[in-house]
Amino acid sequence: MKLQKIEFKNKEKNYSIYIGEKILKILPSKLKLLCPGANKIALIFDKNIPNKFKKTLINKVKKYELTIINFDANEKTKSIKSVSSILNKLLSNNFHRSDIIIGIGGGITGDLSGFVASIFKRGINYVSIPTTLLAQVDAAVGGKTGVNSPHGKNLIGTFSQPKFVISDTYFLKSLKRKEMVSGYAEILKHAIIKDTKFFNWLKSNTKFILSKKAKNLIYAIKKSCKIKLHVVNKDVNEKNLRMILNFGHTFAHAIEVKNNYSKSFTHGEAVLAGMILATKLSIVKKTCSKKTLEDILNIYKENNLDYTYKKYNNFRQILNLVPFLKNDKKNNDEKINFILLKRIGQTTKPNNYKITLTSFKKDIKKITQY
Ligand SMILES: NC(=O)c1ccc[n+]([C@@H]2O[C@H](COP(=O)([O-])OP(=O)(O)OC[C@H]3O[C@@H](n4cnc5c(N)ncnc54)[C@H](O)[C@@H]3O)[C@@H](O)[C@H]2O)c1
Repeated sequence: MKLQKIEFKNKEKNYSIYIGEKILKILPSKLKLLCPGANKIALIFDKNIPNKFKKTLINKVKKYELTIINFDANEKTKSIKSVSSILNKLLSNNFHRSDIIIGIGGGITGDLSGFVASIFKRGINYVSIPTTLLAQVDAAVGGKTGVNSPHGKNLIGTFSQPKFVISDTYFLKSLKRKEMVSGYAEILKHAIIKDTKFFNWLKSNTKFILSKKAKNLIYAIKKSCKIKLHVVNKDVNEKNLRMILNFGHTFAHAIEVKNNYSKSFTHGEAVLAGMILATKLSIVKKTCSKKTLEDILNIYKENNLDYTYKKYNNFRQILNLVPFLKNDKKNNDEKINFILLKRIGQTTKPNNYKITLTSFKKDIKKITQY
């Protein structure tokens, strides 16, 4: 499959996302074209990226003066302390606004590098090279950057777009299945909320995505980015519509907080569990049919993903999530603000299903019937 390109365009900014297998060769010409005044590049690498990938990349930019930063990416180091240390390195090395930062890694490295770039001298050129499936279909798309605070996840950040994004599926070769599943969850979510045809395609292609077949991966990444960009473009600063991207995430965040963000159950696995809970709640609230739930469950069963929701399908397990549901950031009053499903391809409108805790507790018994 030849190089795929998606363009993000709004009033203030436009940039491209390039998707393909072994496409790093395009990097030098894009840098020259889009960052013409640059002499220096800071490469912020996720430490876990195999050395051969790092060497390939360094080779492509060796004519620039390079600063190489190996970042130990985890939710603890996604912090202001790491930001400050990187900013100091850039300042000591006399980086100018016309120079470049390239972030190469998963969503953590991308969020942090993008944030550093957006505040360094009020904004230095930023290029994103996402290397996890989750980052390629979600984190690197849409312009949210940021770090965690002791008060919570992603509480410090900016909206800032990169110069361009290169999503090379070759990087995914070294990714564990658990991380592939984590990214796949967001692909499936995008199909469920916006695209019936894509959902039907996933019915027979999920296995090829999870086994890293380039052609299927590229198609799924492209579709996914398009759906996310379409939604984001209508709501760049996250006022309203963008909330539909949170389908399944109200439950997922509760699951993650309850598990202390343990790596043993990834964000995507929590989203997979959360989407089933949200679909069951949709049946209880009569917004969607049992057939829709069955359609979604079939994909899980055929691809060994049902372990995710089975952890959260009895009364007690769901009740234990309630204290954490309350703290979801979409809630703007005492109620839980759910995005529910109407059918494959369509959710309920944001803010239409705000449910009190007392009412939700009553719904739990009904949820477990499905
Ligand atoms: N900005 C956004 O819109 C947005 C959207 C979704 C998620 N996020 C953020 O993204 C983060 C999660 O991203 P993630 O799932 O990519 O996690 P991550 O960055 O922790 O990466 C997952 C794991 O894969 C490793 N890794 C990365 N690339 C690799 C490669 N090519 N080969 C082998 N190992 C590799 C990492 O070191 C890490 O251990 C969260 O912090 C979340 O808040 C941001």
